[in-house]
Amino acid sequence: MSVIVPLKIGSVVCKNNLVLAPMAGITDSPFRVLCLRGGAGLVCAEMVSAHALHYGNAKSGRMLQVNSKEHPVSMQIFGADEQTIREAAQNAQRAGADIIDLNAGCPVKKINKAGAGCVLMKDEVKLGRLLEAAVKAVKIPVTLKTRIALNHHEFLGAKLAKLAENCGAAAVTLHARAAVDVHSGEPNVEALANACAAVKIPVIGNGGVTSATRVKEFLAAGCSGVMIGRGAVGNPFIFQDIIDELSGKNPPTHTPQKRLAIYQALIEENVAYYGERIGVNRSRKTAGYWIGGFPNAAEVRGKFVRLDTLAEIQALFADVLNKLM
Ligand SMILES: Cc1cc2nc3c(=O)[nH]c(=O)nc-3n(C[C@H](O)[C@H](O)[C@H](O)COP(=O)(O)O)c2cc1C
Repeated sequence: MSVIVPLKIGSVVCKNNLVLAPMAGITDSPFRVLCLRGGAGLVCAEMVSAHALHYGNAKSGRMLQVNSKEHPVSMQIFGADEQTIREAAQNAQRAGADIIDLNAGCPVKKINKAGAGCVLMKDEVKLGRLLEAAVKAVKIPVTLKTRIALNHHEFLGAKLAKLAENCGAAAVTLHARAAVDVHSGEPNVEALANACAAVKIPVIGNGGVTSATRVKEFLAAGCSGVMIGRGAVGNPFIFQDIIDELSGKNPPTHTPQKRLAIYQALIEENVAYYGERIGVNRSRKTAGYWIGGFPNAAEVRGKFVRLDTLAEIQALFADVLNKLM
């Protein structure tokens, strides 16, 4: 029997239990659309400041925008104040989010100094109030993203998962690393298992997942879903690759042709979302990553970075793909 099953978060049913992690500067709308095409059951938007939204910051407001092609999507908010969290949750709901996620795991100093992110892990009363404020403010499910621990001595995952459940959260995501480790080191699967055993709401396990084996390990530990962050950055189709592998299909092949096709799809999404000038410009930054692995790749990259329109790029890629056949 497959371990890849639908994931139910409150009233939202995701087609499978593989989730794209929120990543600031990466999981914008075009990238989320691509990950859904790449098999993700749910995609999470990069965190948005409730404080900035309250003061009408235009960039933060734009970050709440949801493309009709990107459902189900979870919009993550962060903050330290009940009123602004309430407003931010309502704004995100109005903008079309399917789920609101509260961040209580971010270790970035600037955010922690403002009383948000992982510092909330040591103030259960405040975290509970923020979570309840969001839950009461919207009709859609609210989830919490936090960590198994702040340091290596005291594990908080089970306690925080229980808190989330008691405050009405529909699910909790646990990054299986301590905040002091930021994003490095092996995930602590035992701590995840303990948290899963403590609650009835779905627990989504996160941290260091780049393979089908890790997905199986997290699900066997009791997780209802598995969240993938950096593993999706270079391969937004990692979700489908894992699904295929777990269903006994041949291991995925990452030919230069396939990478070029995925890159073109990303450029098209960027152009559709940001407009041609900014969309093409943004796409150029990762050209070195995507255009490679074939004899004249450097020459193609050189041509690519001088192109300004999507039509020119499509023509160049069509020519390259034709020659690679
Ligand atoms: C560049 C980057 C930006 C991130 N931004 C966020 C964020 O906005 N909100 C959040 O909850 N976590 C954020 N994270 C943490 C990820 O969601 C995830 O928990 C972490 O990368 C571990 O998963 P992984 O090992 O699969 O990458 C970020 C991580 C990275 C690498």
